[in-house]
Amino acid sequence: MKIMLLGSGELGKEVIIEAQRLGLQTVAVDRYEGAPAQYVADRAYTGNMTDKGFLKYLVGREDPDCIIPEIEAINLEALSEFEDLGIFVSPRAEAQKTAMDRFRLREKLDKAGVRVSQYHFASNFSDFESACSDFNYTCITKGRFSSSGHGSYVVNSKEDVEKAWEERKKARKPSDDVIIEEFIPFSTEANQLVVRNKGTVFCKTLGHYQLYGDYHSSWQPIYRNENEREGFESVKDQVYTFAEKATLALAGEKGRGIHAVEQFLDFENRKVYVNEVSCRPHDTGMVTFKTHFPGYSQSGLHIRAVAQIPVEPRLCQETDGIKILDSIKPGASHVIVSPTVGWNPQFRGIEKALQHGDVWIFKKPYAFHEPHHGRRLGVALSLAETVADAIREAELTAHAIEIKTDEDPEWRDQWLKEKHVMP
Ligand SMILES: Nc1ncnc2c1ncn2[C@@H]1O[C@H](COP(=O)(O)OP(=O)(O)O)[C@@H](O)[C@H]1O
Ligand SMILES: [Mg+2]
Repeated sequence: MKIMLLGSGELGKEVIIEAQRLGLQTVAVDRYEGAPAQYVADRAYTGNMTDKGFLKYLVGREDPDCIIPEIEAINLEALSEFEDLGIFVSPRAEAQKTAMDRFRLREKLDKAGVRVSQYHFASNFSDFESACSDFNYTCITKGRFSSSGHGSYVVNSKEDVEKAWEERKKARKPSDDVIIEEFIPFSTEANQLVVRNKGTVFCKTLGHYQLYGDYHSSWQPIYRNENEREGFESVKDQVYTFAEKATLALAGEKGRGIHAVEQFLDFENRKVYVNEVSCRPHDTGMVTFKTHFPGYSQSGLHIRAVAQIPVEPRLCQETDGIKILDSIKPGASHVIVSPTVGWNPQFRGIEKALQHGDVWIFKKPYAFHEPHHGRRLGVALSLAETVADAIREAELTAHAIEIKTDEDPEWRDQWLKEKHVMP
């Protein structure tokens, strides 16, 4: 079996490694040369994946059995055509179209009987303003086609409305279509990984926090203390039920692969809200590189599902009809982000870091700045007796690392420290 990965970042790299372990043929494609998954695939190509002609050329040349899109910026029309030709595309073009469109996704989730925050759609300023007023100016606004926080704005007062409307222009695909959501004062954020293979398998629920719209740290299982454990126990039925419904709503009965269902948990009111769904490995799921048994990280689970290789039954615990994959120990992940720009990022402090956890470097050739933080260059992974300890250890691991580049040869700390456990 030959798989073709479209998008070859750090998540795809692990998918390819797991595919290699299972004896599959692998091809990795990205828009730039030297993308992480390209190093570990049998063959690599570089080009613009929104170009239908390029994709058709690749498929003609490589004749893959299965195409795995890892990113959203791909020509979906071409993917639909490949599906029509009988090539297995996972996630399906239709599911991807829904996952990246906040309007479609909301409607699908609503219809599937999944709880979502209250929302309005607006396509002009006047509707936008009245939607914000409807939520008493306590809401969050997001561009229809947006991700990683780009184009989103938290409205706290009437004065914010104009700024929020302006912000839509920063969405990944700017337009006047905006969703206005009730602001949920959640107790904690969850990410439920759901594997659709032969039937459904759940991973232990992940917890995470975001900084400037991007994942910064994640942990598994979700509870950091006794209070959270009790809170989670009181809503876990909703967590699993909504996650499976949301997954089926996107994947359909035939869809295979891992799905990440982002949820807000409100322990006080015992309510769970589904926020987003992605039909592929998720950045917060990197913690499973360490917490899960070898071959069963989120990437291993994804490729197994796609290649129709079942999960070993003995690795799952079944209670009340819900199958949950075992993990090794509580663990956490923490991103390693660049404090600088330039070619050839270099790292030091590994020995100090290893006192606290493991360091995985993605081998990206170039470091740059996003608006609020640097590019993600690696991830710190720690196991411990408790989740709280693992979170601290992963943080210490990541922050022991200093970075320089050929253009900026001074060793620098990672300066982003908000929401951290350490002062
Ligand atoms: N309705 C909401 N209520 C409260 N917080 C929210 C809401 N929607 C989003 N957020 C916060 O913003 C983060 C990013 O929003 P999200 O919808 O996941 O967009 P993206 O991840 O594509 O940028 C969430 O992880 C959560 O912390
Ligand atoms: Mg999100």
